[in-house]
Amino acid sequence: MVHFINGEYINKDDVSVSIDDRGYYFGDGVYEVIKVYDGELYTAHEHLSRLFSSAEKIKIDISFTESELLQVAKELLTRNKISNGQVYMQVTRGVAPRQHNFPSQEVLPMLTAYALETKRPLDAIEKGVSVKSVIDVRWLLCDIKSLNLLGSVLAKQEAKEANCFEALLHRDGFVTEGSSTNIFGVKEGVVYTHPATNLVLNGITRQVVLRLCNELAIPCVEKEFTLEEAFNMDELFLTSTTSEIMPITKLDGQPIGNGQPGLQTKRLTEAFNLQIP
Ligand code: PDD
Repeated sequence: MVHFINGEYINKDDVSVSIDDRGYYFGDGVYEVIKVYDGELYTAHEHLSRLFSSAEKIKIDISFTESELLQVAKELLTRNKISNGQVYMQVTRGVAPRQHNFPSQEVLPMLTAYALETKRPLDAIEKGVSVKSVIDVRWLLCDIKSLNLLGSVLAKQEAKEANCFEALLHRDGFVTEGSSTNIFGVKEGVVYTHPATNLVLNGITRQVVLRLCNELAIPCVEKEFTLEEAFNMDELFLTSTTSEIMPITKLDGQPIGNGQPGLQTKRLTEAFNLQIP
């Protein structure tokens, strides 16, 4: 597999990363995952814009332009012969002796990227998944797609140990998002999701769903709902680049609605499938 490491294409086995990389010490960096359908990068502009905005929020100056990054992603697909899968890109603050404050201006950010062939999770999209409620103990800058993922890692593991696909995070009684997904509820035909505040990542798939709701004339509001309300939703679903639109059929072992993927969720999935390459 060929990786991109700060300007060079290198075979994975030949890649070496410094132990002094701040990503390694502090999770001091940002990242993106872009989906590839039929050789095409889906919503690449939205992902790359978010990469730049995440970097800006933590004061990292990416030394590549958006079109250069797009070129890197395309080149990785070609060199690795990937037609369906994903591209992963991350930028750390660079390599410097371990000290919490930022290194000097001369230290350049470290950009790494690779592409992977993956299959769409079609079975889960059709049948739905179970989730486990977990208290959201993450920090207050969840709008940044940061490499600091310990809160998400612990939540996902807790879900996995309960035989669940994802953790449904809640803070002060309100559902925020999943450990690596956004969460939606449907009640009496209206779609609800947490507003794009500092408490959630404004997912690209989330934004696609909001657009699709609009196109399908499905009423949709960006408004918090409580964990208690989540149990009583007619439908729940999660979204992400890799999970797409996935029905949630059980929360903490309790069926949602009739325990089957819901009608509005299915309509959104059909509309989603029509607009991917
Ligand atoms: N996760 N919320 C969180 C906390 C996420 O990490 C992600 C993405 C999402 C969904 O965002 P999008 O629709 O842009 O993928 C929501 C990626 C896929 C990951 O960490 O692998």
